[in-house]
Amino acid sequence: MVLSPMRNLLVTSALPYANGPIHLGHLVEYLQTDIWVRYQKLRGNRCIYLCADDTHGTAISLRAQNEGRSEEELIAEMSESHQKDFADFGIEFDHYGSTNSEASREICHEIWAALREADMVVEEEVEQLYDVEKGMFLADRFVRGTCPKCNSPDQPGDNCDSCGATYSPVELIDPVSTLSGTRPEIRSAKHLFVQIEQLHGFLEEWTQSGTLPAESANYLKNFFLAEPLKDWDVSRPAPYFGFEISDSPGNYWYVWFDAPIGYIGTTKEWCDQHGEQLADWWKNEKTEIHHFIGKDIQYFHTLFWPAMLKTAGYSLPTKVHIHGFLTVDGDKMSKSRGTFIRAAKYLEHLNPSYLRYYYATKLSAKVEDLDLNLEEFVARVNSDLVGKVVNLASRTAKFVASPGLSETYPTNDEGLFEKFAQQGDAIAEAYEVGNFGKAMRLIIELADAANPYVESNAPWELRKDPEKTQQLQDVCTVALNLFRTLCVYLSPVLPDLAAKCGELLGDPITSWDQSKKPLSGTPVAKFKHMMQRVDAKRIETMIEESAAENEAAAAATTPALSFDDSGEFLSENPIADEIAFDDFAKVDLRVARVVEAHEVPEARKLIRLILSLGGDERRQVFAGIKAAYQPEDLVGELVVMVANLAPRKMKFGVSEGMIVAAGPGGKDIFVLNPDEGAIPGHRVM
Ligand code: MSP
Ligand code: ZN
Repeated sequence: MVLSPMRNLLVTSALPYANGPIHLGHLVEYLQTDIWVRYQKLRGNRCIYLCADDTHGTAISLRAQNEGRSEEELIAEMSESHQKDFADFGIEFDHYGSTNSEASREICHEIWAALREADMVVEEEVEQLYDVEKGMFLADRFVRGTCPKCNSPDQPGDNCDSCGATYSPVELIDPVSTLSGTRPEIRSAKHLFVQIEQLHGFLEEWTQSGTLPAESANYLKNFFLAEPLKDWDVSRPAPYFGFEISDSPGNYWYVWFDAPIGYIGTTKEWCDQHGEQLADWWKNEKTEIHHFIGKDIQYFHTLFWPAMLKTAGYSLPTKVHIHGFLTVDGDKMSKSRGTFIRAAKYLEHLNPSYLRYYYATKLSAKVEDLDLNLEEFVARVNSDLVGKVVNLASRTAKFVASPGLSETYPTNDEGLFEKFAQQGDAIAEAYEVGNFGKAMRLIIELADAANPYVESNAPWELRKDPEKTQQLQDVCTVALNLFRTLCVYLSPVLPDLAAKCGELLGDPITSWDQSKKPLSGTPVAKFKHMMQRVDAKRIETMIEESAAENEAAAAATTPALSFDDSGEFLSENPIADEIAFDDFAKVDLRVARVVEAHEVPEARKLIRLILSLGGDERRQVFAGIKAAYQPEDLVGELVVMVANLAPRKMKFGVSEGMIVAAGPGGKDIFVLNPDEGAIPGHRVM
């Protein structure tokens, strides 16, 4: 007997960031990987599927800070919720770790030592914006300012939305930290860089060796032609949540340095738990390593990562499977439209099998975006799974519940079982190369061939004729075997359905080869519901709830700084003629406290204020701010008043000065307050 050569496979999905929940976009990747892994296991290959939370970096620290707790507490909670979401979607990892683990730390040090040893690390001074109030260097995304090229205000830290220029945040005119709203200063700090250019030749060859999808390989080709590969900045100065670099105290590895190392660290944890050797998985040419990632993180996985592995003597990935991005009804996922859907939200309304199947129908080996078209989602699931697959069992199983399957498999099945078995190789091939869409098409074609057999043999008619019990049993035996073969083929995608089929026929589905030999003479269990039709109303509700939830969340968090510096108001209200300083000095502006504020019933716009300038000095002022303020909200506030304005007799009393406010008027009036520390009587200059 020839044993089929069993493959040894180590499979990973990208490590999700610990600072946010799993959403339907993520699931494109984790479902895709899970399907591939289940397929490999079903084929009898040795396969471990590893993943972990990506826990380091500034975003985690900021969130922990906002929530008033430690990073460790936050990442522990996120890990639990990520793992629950994955499990609820039937995504089965052999181990789920964390980049913030001892195992990962150890391997960071090891790989770092190898890079030092190879003389690939250099030190350079880097100028960065520093938020003095927050006490930290600012990543590009936490800075906004005026574009140095076109002068558009309020542009992102690294490129201008208005003119498209790219720049360093230190070049911004009037930069503002979005964390504190203050103006950051430029500080220079020492960073450590890895010179991946030293591996130019190796990387060029490796990226073109068939490891990557053609689109990605082609894209990278240009990189190698153009210029030397840029040094990679892998350190960040304290404070930073991550691992401190042993030979560079006060500096930490940048999150993208330790993230992929988490793949190895997680393998190490799994090995330790299972009495295995790490080297058998990461330093063994017989082990295939497969990474599944999205197109947004190719650069890290196809240049930096292989450079690190190569230098430290680890195996290189056998394949990097790269997918595109999820759109919903043709558009990017949108929080306000409610199409940014959390995994857990989906599960409140819909069966995970639906999405597993729908994504499978849409996935190919190409790097292309995938659209979740909600109408198509309903139609596919209802017509393919419920209408064509489950139907085979639901229309026949009940008629053979007591006799079970025929003693021998009927010979007159129109050649269907043979046809089904023969398609196995083509379906397997499609799974193997990641063309799940093709696999699903081939499977549904088979279902399309099986259904007419049931229709024309009409077991529900045969049942009425006591002479035809054998024929009835045979027809149902054929139909249930065809159903079972479909379930074997679908089991990587629909493990739940496969398990139910196993229960129905008393034979759990554990191997691809079960598609090759029909069952006969075995009992059939009472038919239980296998899959309900998708209720389109639930989708609507899910979208509505997502939109409402995101709206509430947006309102609860402090809004990101947004500016309206358009200059429109200024152009309608030009600056007044120049005056001499002495003219200005004549105006005696003072800080005052509002001690009383009253409605003036007869006046539409006015509030009567009693202001204290300190001591017994009181002034009555009528201010035209009624549309913008409630009197009771003003009492106790500090304002700025013109203290030496000649008193003016008004219809309702004497106004002894005025308070200073900004804005065009009406509801848009903004009373000026001095900063904390000022007291009534202070002169304003
Ligand atoms: N933490 C990094 C990966 C480190 S791997 C050493 C990261 N995390 S992520 O949470 O942003 O994304 C995890 C994976 O999900 C990535 O491969 C990413 O491409 C994928 N997706 C996240 N949003 C996605 C869509 N909207 N659509 C498809 N995949 C997307 O990147
Ligand atoms: Zn610009």
